[in-house]
Amino acid sequence: MKIEHTPRKDIDSLQRLNQLASKNAYDIEDLDWSLNVDRSKLWAPPAMSPLTYLPSFDRLDEAQQLRYNQIFALAICEQFIWFETNFLIDAMESVVRQFNVPDEMVTAVNFLTDEEIKHTRMFWRLLQKSEPEWYAQREFRIFRMTPGQQLVTRAMLSWPKHILVWIWIAIFFEERTTDYCRQYVQFDRQNPDSLDPSFLQVHRFHFRDEARHFQLDQHLLSWVYDRAPRWKCRLAGRMFYRVMRGYTAPRNTALQTLRQLAREFPDLNQSVVPALVRELPLLGQSREYHQMAFSRKAVKNSLALFAEYPELDCLWPLFLVETREANQPGGSAALLAGVAAGSVNSN
Ligand SMILES: [Fe+2]
Ligand SMILES: [Fe+2]
Repeated sequence: MKIEHTPRKDIDSLQRLNQLASKNAYDIEDLDWSLNVDRSKLWAPPAMSPLTYLPSFDRLDEAQQLRYNQIFALAICEQFIWFETNFLIDAMESVVRQFNVPDEMVTAVNFLTDEEIKHTRMFWRLLQKSEPEWYAQREFRIFRMTPGQQLVTRAMLSWPKHILVWIWIAIFFEERTTDYCRQYVQFDRQNPDSLDPSFLQVHRFHFRDEARHFQLDQHLLSWVYDRAPRWKCRLAGRMFYRVMRGYTAPRNTALQTLRQLAREFPDLNQSVVPALVRELPLLGQSREYHQMAFSRKAVKNSLALFAEYPELDCLWPLFLVETREANQPGGSAALLAGVAAGSVNSN
């Protein structure tokens, strides 16, 4: 029986994605691993890190701010490893096992899993170069999940046919990943020699595969999600709201980053770190932080997809600088009108 597949507009066909995967393939040894990581340089663009948006951040001196930046950059690598190894690969493999998908999709998923395994090796190697003692055993140092989050992840990956939220998580986080890569490249262009070359290199190489992964995620949306009964979509919407609520006002990893900073600069335990911990909830209300992380500048394709699905209407109050109307087709004019009238969502 012929399997029907209606891909979304504006994305490459699965056949094209598979051709690009072969054509642009690279090996981890294609990267230059000869350089030492430079501890006098930034390891991430400063604007990417949430704590820079808090009032007490300026109370850290220059050395402390630099070290915070480096710990944050390590946390990002850990987060990528967790997401790609413990979440994405399992979710994608279950697609091939449990859904009736065409051969081209199977090939595309196989490319993706191989590439994510390669990325994971790449990020561990970068972590080990940066902090050899911390990562000798390949254990996370900063990234933490709560027991509740672990439980939800296990449930999602055990019943991916019913708990479809993994598709939205994959879409949002893979576009977020490409935005991180873009921010690295843009910051380096504007501030030559400020970023450590090893970090920049790894994120540049990561980008080569991730833009394609984001397109594959959208094929999965039409193939798996759009055919699902309404109750599964509504459940996915409710679960995705909870995921995004934690992400638009980040806490866990930010806290661990602060704890590490305080271990290295014990004086900060007196007042600066407690002040920053108290201020963490402000991130959920910071328009500047949201502009960096949750705006059309950062994740416009995800936002446009969210606007298409009524079960995701619950997300919009979480986004300070975006509205559903502004992200629907022809929505830019609506946003500009909203700004002029002072009516853009400011929840
Ligand atoms: Fe990746
Ligand atoms: Fe990916």
